[in-house]
Amino acid sequence: MRVVIHGLTKEFMTGGGKTRALAGVNLEVRDREFFGVIGPTGCGKTTLLHIIAGLEKPTKGSVEFVGEKRTQAMVSMVFQDAALMPWRSVERNVPLGPEFRRQPAPAYKRVAQFFLEMVRLLDFSSARPAELSGGMKQKVAIARALANDPEVILMDEPFANLDAQTRLLLREELLRIWEKEKKTVILVTHNIEEAVMLCDRVAVMSSAPGVVKSVISVDVRRPRTLKSMSDPDFIRCLEKIWELLRYEVDKAMRENHPSSATQSEGEGRRKAHFDGWE
Ligand SMILES: Nc1ncnc2c1ncn2[C@@H]1O[C@H](COP(=O)(O)OP(=O)(O)OP(=O)(O)O)[C@@H](O)[C@H]1O
Ligand SMILES: [Mg+2]
Repeated sequence: MRVVIHGLTKEFMTGGGKTRALAGVNLEVRDREFFGVIGPTGCGKTTLLHIIAGLEKPTKGSVEFVGEKRTQAMVSMVFQDAALMPWRSVERNVPLGPEFRRQPAPAYKRVAQFFLEMVRLLDFSSARPAELSGGMKQKVAIARALANDPEVILMDEPFANLDAQTRLLLREELLRIWEKEKKTVILVTHNIEEAVMLCDRVAVMSSAPGVVKSVISVDVRRPRTLKSMSDPDFIRCLEKIWELLRYEVDKAMRENHPSSATQSEGEGRRKAHFDGWE
């Protein structure tokens, strides 16, 4: 399923007037592509995903899904926080899509087990979310998104709350699952390394109000593993995205914290560099 986004503008009405979140976003995400979106904080990435998911209406512009519809759900979303139902077992947290569509109950267990096995959590089927680590909870959220059998999976910084090692492991897991399922994925991340590790292409957004500044192809051989991070193509791509992003991050920092504009450019760059690359 292709996602064609044309002239997307979003203005929020707030107490103090209008906030312009998006200022004309154009994008075309290809069928079964792993597509990344990266940009300074507040540039409208979450707003963009919400509009694609149909959770927000654009002020102007359109989102079109183009392709043969093979499954029942159009999109599933994975958030930064797994947002599981604490009173339900892991197994009963997964088949929400089939439940919502009122599929026959016997299918739930089968669907749950299939996707829990895929994220390697079958042994935790009867556990409650509180008994799981943060990384395991996110894996349940990914299983739940897949169980909805969507055309497109939207992910909003799904690993941002996890420790560095868990994040590395989950990136590998996500790649393995995507190689198998081959859904169209749109991933929002602040982490350039993550974008290069996972994506076919990455859109770099401007500082607020967001537009797409550039779309970079990630020409790093697949299958990708941790070792890919030392591949010269990987490093070249990382640097290219960072070059584009650095200017925007600096600009956003100056706008949000005018006092930081007085520090030397090198200082600002080092800080942004650290934030961006972890
Ligand atoms: N429901 C809302 N009402 C009013 N303003 C909003 C609303 N949602 C977002 N905004 C504003 O729109 C702008 C973009 O917000 P958004 O959350 O999309 O940015 P983001 O790129 O996801 O940021 P971050 O990287 O910090 O997650 C911000 O200025 C934000 O304050
Ligand atoms: Mg966001």
